[in-house]
Amino acid sequence: MCGIVALVGSREASTILVEGLRKLEYRGYDSAGLATVSTHKGSKKGFITCKKAEGKLVNLLNLIATDGAPGHIGIGHTRWATHGKPDVKNAHPHVDTLSQVAVVQNGIIENHTVLRDNLQKQGIQFCSETDTEVIPHLISEALIRLQEEGVTAKEEMLFLAVRETLDLLQGSYALAVIWAETPDVLIVAKNKAPLVIGFAQGEFLCASDTSAFAGFTRTILPLEDRELALLTPLGVEIYDSLGKRQHRTPSLIVGSEKDVEKGQFRHFMLKEIYEQSETADQWIRRFLPNGLSPSSPIALSFEDSFYESIEAIQILACGTSRHAAMVGAHLLEQFAGIPSTVFFASEFRYAPPPLAPNVLTIGVTQSGETADTLAALIMESERRSSLKNNLFSSRQLGITNRIESSLARQVSNIIDIGAGLEVGVAATKTFLGQLLTFYGLAIMFAAKKKRRSSKEINEICCQLRLVPNQLRDLIKTHNKLTEKLAHQFVNTKDVIFLGRGINYPIALEAALKLKEISYIHAEGFPAGEMKHGPIALLDYKVPVISIATQGVVFEKVLSNAQEAKARDACLIGIAPESSETEIFDHLLPIPKVSEWISPLLTVIPLQLLSYHIAAHRGLDVDQPRNLAKSVTVE
Ligand code: M6R
Repeated sequence: MCGIVALVGSREASTILVEGLRKLEYRGYDSAGLATVSTHKGSKKGFITCKKAEGKLVNLLNLIATDGAPGHIGIGHTRWATHGKPDVKNAHPHVDTLSQVAVVQNGIIENHTVLRDNLQKQGIQFCSETDTEVIPHLISEALIRLQEEGVTAKEEMLFLAVRETLDLLQGSYALAVIWAETPDVLIVAKNKAPLVIGFAQGEFLCASDTSAFAGFTRTILPLEDRELALLTPLGVEIYDSLGKRQHRTPSLIVGSEKDVEKGQFRHFMLKEIYEQSETADQWIRRFLPNGLSPSSPIALSFEDSFYESIEAIQILACGTSRHAAMVGAHLLEQFAGIPSTVFFASEFRYAPPPLAPNVLTIGVTQSGETADTLAALIMESERRSSLKNNLFSSRQLGITNRIESSLARQVSNIIDIGAGLEVGVAATKTFLGQLLTFYGLAIMFAAKKKRRSSKEINEICCQLRLVPNQLRDLIKTHNKLTEKLAHQFVNTKDVIFLGRGINYPIALEAALKLKEISYIHAEGFPAGEMKHGPIALLDYKVPVISIATQGVVFEKVLSNAQEAKARDACLIGIAPESSETEIFDHLLPIPKVSEWISPLLTVIPLQLLSYHIAAHRGLDVDQPRNLAKSVTVE
């Protein structure tokens, strides 16, 4: 988490840094800060100006508007607190004792306690509780030592001091460093946290994510782990951890990085819910165009051998992506007949299952930067390669919405869900894009492995083609219905969501959505599980929202809903309109579609209901407390 941006050029840095931070605010918004170096007239030695503000970026903006932060070189940070409260003293940049060295960092320095103890023993006083603050102090110590050893060239001194310091750090970092004595040198480095360099006209930037470059440049070069780069107005030099110069050619950002605006919508989340019909439309155009052969019904470019050789699938993901993966695993098993298991990426790394042959590992992450998911994929790849047995070799596929992300660089096969930039922290349209991608995969596996007849495959493809229009109508209708219904639940403390089979993950997703944006306690259960304990929670104060779609478990879900009603729960149904669904106190109707397709529709009223409850509560829907869009720490 946290976003960093740094710049060296010929224009006033603070304006560009703030603009970059605005685009990175989704990575954290507890506090923000920046530092610049500038020189007094006629002097070569510079001074650092450091400005920090608690809360959203706008507070920093106001501070700079009054105080200013001169200089053509600078570093900026937007924070998601890990070590220490989100207040000004813990906000980045952090500086050394004499405020000569300033550092911004994203990641976690795991050995910071030992490093801090050592520095404190030498008399250094710390101003923050962060893990980061050890870095400027260590650099400063190294600079003093290098000077004593006779190194005189300032640029070389800073480079060596940063390199030495990096050798002492354990954990993950992307960082940027400036020094008052080198007013035109910026040093950046990374290990297990993303960092990309941008090449613009007369200026060089560096940021956690290419979105910070929108409007500045499309020419980029991602840094590799343990590399560091020296940026001056004259150019960029990249080095490995041993100080060996690296030569790589920058590339162009793929696709358009449009600066997205809310338009007529009050929040990005609502806009993104509305965009789902477009997401589906685009997906159909790309992956399900007319005229594909029955043996390859989806436009995915993998060789036949890719599908044929796979006997089981394991999927690693977190949060909403994991819920999409659960629907995916249901489809892959029940529609395509391939044993599929979903893991919390954060658990998989420390308790993986015994190795099985011919397994495809899928990593699902909309941001492509989730540290838990990336680390789990690396771990799985390493343990498989160590076996040196073809049957156990590592086959990995990534599903992401950010094709420029670390995930895309890490795995050999990638599918871009193409949902377009999602700004709201609560994932909505990217969830739909992930679901659709799993439909595509399941259909391809079913076709290639001949687990379903051409008729069955054709049927599901035809149903998928109807989804964009169904979504369009559904969103319009349910925006009104849920807006009205939400008033009733503004002061509710607990909500229970029930689903079964392919819609159980939708119940989980609905509970997550409600929790994260409205701060109301919510749980999702498989409907049949209520009687084994959770039913004890029910009384008239706990609404039960039940997903009941036509199919094998329809009657069962209705019976489970009756059981809740008998305990005085207010019952809301997500179901097609029929005499059977009259048991619900409120019905949020969805069209009658096959059970396979239903999750693509049932999720809509649930997203909208969460949205309206949170909006009625007057909460910051797009940037809920304690969260960040991209979770780059483990
Ligand atoms: O970028 P990812 O899909 O890997 O993110 C995983 C979760 O952090 C994410 O889905 C989170 O749960 C969202 N805030 C859900 O709305």
